[in-house]
Amino acid sequence: MLEDTSFAIHPGKKTSNEAIKYVDIGNVIEYKTTEQNYQFISEHGYVTISFFSDSIVRIVMNPWKIPDLTLSQTVVAAPKKVKINEQETNEAIILQTTKMELVVRKQPLRITIKDVAGHVLENESERGMAYRENGEVIVFKDKDKQDHFYGFGEKSGYLDKCGEKYEMWNTDVYAPHNPETDPLYQSIPYFMTLRDGRAHGVFFDNTFKTTFDLKSYESTYSFHAEGGQLDYYVMTGPEPKSVLEQYTFLTGRMPLPAKWAIGYHQSRYSYESEEEVRALAKNFVERDIPVDVIHLDIHYMDEYRVFTFDKKRFPNPEQLIIDLREMGIRIVPIVDPGVKKDPEYSIYQEGVWQDNFCKYIEGNIYYGEVWPGVSAFPDFTEERVRKWWGEQHAYYTNMGVEGIWNDMNEPAVFNETKTMDTSVMHRNDGRPATHRELHNVYGYLMGKATYEGMKSHLKGKRPFLLTRSGYAGIQRYAAVWTGDNRSFWEHLQMSLPMVMNLGLSGIAFTGPDVGGFAHDTNPELLVRWMQIGAFTPYFRNHSAIGTRYQEPWMFGEKYESILKKYIQMRYEWMPQLYLLFYQASGQGLPVMRPLLMEYPDDKKTYRLNDQVMIGDNVIVAPILAPSVTDRVVYLPEGSWVDFVTEREYEGNQVHIVHAELDELPIFIRKGTAIMQGQFVSNTEKQGKDLWMYVYASQSNEEYRFTFYDDDGETFSYEDGEYLKLDMQIISSTKKVEIDIIAKEGTYQPKYNEIKVKVIGLTDEQNVIINGVERSNYSSITI
Ligand code: GLC
Repeated sequence: MLEDTSFAIHPGKKTSNEAIKYVDIGNVIEYKTTEQNYQFISEHGYVTISFFSDSIVRIVMNPWKIPDLTLSQTVVAAPKKVKINEQETNEAIILQTTKMELVVRKQPLRITIKDVAGHVLENESERGMAYRENGEVIVFKDKDKQDHFYGFGEKSGYLDKCGEKYEMWNTDVYAPHNPETDPLYQSIPYFMTLRDGRAHGVFFDNTFKTTFDLKSYESTYSFHAEGGQLDYYVMTGPEPKSVLEQYTFLTGRMPLPAKWAIGYHQSRYSYESEEEVRALAKNFVERDIPVDVIHLDIHYMDEYRVFTFDKKRFPNPEQLIIDLREMGIRIVPIVDPGVKKDPEYSIYQEGVWQDNFCKYIEGNIYYGEVWPGVSAFPDFTEERVRKWWGEQHAYYTNMGVEGIWNDMNEPAVFNETKTMDTSVMHRNDGRPATHRELHNVYGYLMGKATYEGMKSHLKGKRPFLLTRSGYAGIQRYAAVWTGDNRSFWEHLQMSLPMVMNLGLSGIAFTGPDVGGFAHDTNPELLVRWMQIGAFTPYFRNHSAIGTRYQEPWMFGEKYESILKKYIQMRYEWMPQLYLLFYQASGQGLPVMRPLLMEYPDDKKTYRLNDQVMIGDNVIVAPILAPSVTDRVVYLPEGSWVDFVTEREYEGNQVHIVHAELDELPIFIRKGTAIMQGQFVSNTEKQGKDLWMYVYASQSNEEYRFTFYDDDGETFSYEDGEYLKLDMQIISSTKKVEIDIIAKEGTYQPKYNEIKVKVIGLTDEQNVIINGVERSNYSSITI
């Protein structure tokens, strides 16, 4: 308690700055090559180097024995066959692929990684890999003055993480998320370094508590784990996009989401009864505000027992779900991992009888307190238990539920440590390990269990899963929301770099609680938050018990009409967002991205926290402060067009733009195009028409993009039922040529043509579509 007062900085509490002493790995004693690997035995440790591709190398150091390469909880890729040129000199061993060069110096063992042009990516100089007798492992590497760091998953603070120190230990943090609040709910031990326009990535695949120190030393950075092997990958990039493709090659990419899952979600802790939920749905329909999902928070359950409904509050959930579905709305219930200790509760009974709960080594079940009171926790590290948990979800899918919300899965426990006892021994599919080692994957494995269970029950329909906790690779199973933020302007501001860094960490489907979870929102904040919310990959308005309600009509007509406009806009942009989600599922690229991803050579983009890109050609620059109606926006090279006014702006400079409360500055790069749909009604949502807005450029420009569509609901796309159009737009002073250069797939959409609108044509420019001269309003038959 006293730690919350000035006592925390009492002069008597001075902490020592003395550096911790590590045992350096020392000199190489022996070196040998096996078919796949390069093994080094040094005075104080063992190192194995292997290549996953020309551009991805894995380095594993174990202080005690030859590294075990089979321990990853997340890597889905197998090493490709890579041609390596190997040379040995007295000083070093040099391993070269077509994309990188590794120099392993022998005395002492130090590794340098370069690209083929000779640029140093990662370098161990004075200090390198090391460990302590207590099992900690660490590596020190050189840090360049030019370095900018991104990623690290879900972290508060600014976009560029240079000068920060982060810990990975999944934690339930209700206390305000300040710039220094760390760790939060997710552990994504991965980052990307951008140096002089070239990017590379590092993924430290260690599930223990890990620390990344980019702060303590001027020219050195380090990463460290409390235990396990120093097991990490370096990805050579050199474009930020390639780094992400390489990282998601290792940890996987998100499945294509159902279209309804990328619509608008309305939530509250809690809508407490069937009547309340029906009234809420009715409000949306009558006001013609689109909504795809209503979430049920913990009050739907019978005393917070998962896989139950409270009979008084929700007497007929089946009918509720059917009726809402007819209104075009789906229900997503919350499911936490804690199973109430109650001998008369079937899930608890089964869990005990089948030996499914986390236990101590001595065999007694671990109990912790959460919403249901004393609870037991499924041991998701065991395949058998994941299957059991997944099977339970038939309870929901039989009622027509297609999406689940996983919360408290760090796991959160109401005690001093905020989580499970670290001495709990997980079964871990035959490789028992303590909770200290597997804590960071608990939520991720719950996500795997839930997603796979839902998928098998839904028989061909795409499940949706939302999770609070996760580990690298969580994108394969779930969308991530950023937990318990507050209705502060500062939290709106912070949500942008947070979502961008999550996107740079392979997790494309993310968003904050729009409007703010805790604290009371206010109409202006809600409007500004919903405006950018319409563009955040995951879009949910959620608020806490005891706070002001923040449904779109809560603040009167003036605000309702603005909020409605932006929720509808989300649906108008759906075809564009969906093609970006297709990119995320295919290449791992984020939907919402920092400008540096598209303009890595432009230093002005490296620290832009308050504007985002949607895909590669749209910049959104929301207003993020109260009473503000003007802001500075930086537009990079090229020319840009205001989406609403169609006014042109020159790139490579800043502009002051004006945005009244109902306005959101959006800019499209000239020479490119976006796809637009229409919003029809709550039940139908998407209209029949599909538009392509082409922004004519007068300088010679070529733009390519892939339009993608399918039924948005099933896995039929896996059997070729999709529509894929590779589009090309070439602008010059005389003409704008629009071509479909390839068409693929058997999906028959409702539209049979794309309506085309060309914006910003000069008198000299003609429009040519698939080789034929057309007007600036025309169409393409598909
Ligand atoms: C946690 C979640 C929040 C949820 C609440 C009740 O605080 O982060 O979103 O509403 O629990 O379930």
